[in-house]
Amino acid sequence: MRKRCRLKYMVMLLGVVGIIVLFEILQKWRLEVIDQQLNVVLSGRKEQSETALQGIQADRLRLIKKVLKTNYLDSTKEYVFVQNILSRSMSGNGSHVLTICMHATANHLHYLTDLMAVWTGPVSVTVFTHHGQDITDLLENLLYYKHCFENISKFVSFHIAYPVSISIEVKPSNVWNFECEMEPEHLIRNDSSNFKSKVPYPHNVLRNIAITFAKTPYILSLDIDMIPSVNLHSQFEQFVKRRQSLLSDMSSKVAFVLPAFESSAPVSVFNKGKLLDHWKRNLVRPFYQFACRDCHSNTDYDLWEKLPSISFLDIGYNAVFERPWEPFFIARKQDMPLYDGRFKQYGFNRFSQICEMHMLGYSFAVMNNAFVIHRGFKEPESFHETKDLEHRQNELVFKEFEAELKLRYQGSGRNC
Ligand SMILES: *[C@@H]1O[C@H](CO)[C@@H](O)[C@H](O)[C@H]1NC(C)=O
Ligand SMILES: *[C@@H]1O[C@H](CO)[C@@H](O)[C@H](O)[C@H]1NC(C)=O
Ligand SMILES: *[C@@H]1O[C@H](CO)[C@@H](O)[C@H](O)[C@H]1NC(C)=O
Repeated sequence: MRKRCRLKYMVMLLGVVGIIVLFEILQKWRLEVIDQQLNVVLSGRKEQSETALQGIQADRLRLIKKVLKTNYLDSTKEYVFVQNILSRSMSGNGSHVLTICMHATANHLHYLTDLMAVWTGPVSVTVFTHHGQDITDLLENLLYYKHCFENISKFVSFHIAYPVSISIEVKPSNVWNFECEMEPEHLIRNDSSNFKSKVPYPHNVLRNIAITFAKTPYILSLDIDMIPSVNLHSQFEQFVKRRQSLLSDMSSKVAFVLPAFESSAPVSVFNKGKLLDHWKRNLVRPFYQFACRDCHSNTDYDLWEKLPSISFLDIGYNAVFERPWEPFFIARKQDMPLYDGRFKQYGFNRFSQICEMHMLGYSFAVMNNAFVIHRGFKEPESFHETKDLEHRQNELVFKEFEAELKLRYQGSGRNC
C-alpha cells in the first residue's frame, strides 16, 4: 500500500519535472526563433557601427527574454509587471537620497530628455502598454533611450506593466532601425494616447511599481511632463545632512511640498530667480491656475514668492491641508502610504493618497527654493473628452475609499 503510494508520488513528481523541462525547452526554442527572425530582419540594415549594433542586439534579446520569462502581478492582480527591465548604470554607491518616480506610455518617454538636463539623481519609470502587439515598440523605445542618451542610461531604471488580460506578442518585424541622430519626437507613434484607449490608464498602479523599486530613502512622484528646479538632488541631499537632527525630531510623517508651476514655453534650466522672472512675464504661472485653482492654491504662492532669498534649500513654512489640495512633494518612502489602484483615468488618483497622508497625521512643509514645472499651460478646455465622466465615476470610488479611511484611522481626528 505504502509502496504504491510512494510510486504514485514519484510519477507525479516526474510529471511535474517533465512539464517544467518541456516548458524551458519551448521557451528556449521560442527565443531562438525570435533571434533568427531578428537577424533576418536586421541583416542588410545600416546602423551605427558593427559593435554598437551587436550591443543593441544583445540588449534587445535580453529585454525580450525578460518580458517572456518574468510576470509578476501587481497587488490589484489586474496587471503584469517586469521590474528593472533596464536598470540605471550609475549605482551611486548608496549616496543617492532621492528618486523621481514616474509613469508613462512609450510615446511620452521623450520628456525624459528634458528631465535629464536638470536632474542628476535616480529616476524610476513604469512604462505601460495597453496592447500586446505594442510590446516590441515599447522595447525599441527603451533601447533607443538607453543607447542614445547617456544621462538616461546612467540614471533611469525602467519597469514595464500591462493588463493581465492581454497576451504579449513579440513581433520581429516591428524592431526599429534607429539611429541616435533621430529626434525622439519622430519616433512617437501617434496611434496610442494614454486617455483615449479602451483600456483605462492605471496611474496609481504604475506609480506604485515605480516607487516600490526605487532604492533611495526619499521619493518624489511626478508626472512625466514635469521637471524639478535645477540641482534639486544635491540641494535635497545637503538639506537632509544639514537638518539631520530636525528631521529625526520631527515626526517622520512630513511631506516636503514643492510648489508646482506650468510653463507655456519648453523650459530650460530653472532656478527660483529665473522662475520668478518668468512668472512676472506671464510665461509661467501656478499649476492649474485656470483648470482647478483650488487644487494648488493651498500652497500659498504669494507667501512663497515673498520668502527671503537664501542660497540653500530649507523649509519655508508649513501649510495646513484642505481639500482639494494635491501638492507634489518629497516624502520618506518607508512611511508613505502607496497609491490606491482603484483610481484609473482622470480624477482623485493623487488626491486620494494625500487625503490618506493627512489622516495619517502628515504635516506639509513647503520648501523655500525648490519647485516643479509642468510643460504647457493647462486650460479648462484642453482636457480629453471623457474627463468629466471619469471624474464623476472616480468620485464614487473616492466616497468608498474615504469611508474605508475613516474606519482605518479611527480617532485620527482628521477628515478630508
Ligand atoms: C562606486 O564604486 C565603484 C567601486 O568602488 C567605483 O568604481 C565607482 O566609480 C563608484 N561610483 C560612484 C558614482 O561613486
Ligand atoms: C547630462 O547631465 C549633465 C549633468 O550631470 C548635464 O550637464 C548635461 O547637460 C546633461 N546632458 C544632456 C544631454 O541633457
Ligand atoms: C507623430 O506626430 C508628430 C507631430 O505631429 C510627428 O512629428 C511625427 O513624425 C509623427 N510620428 C510618426 C511615427 O508618424
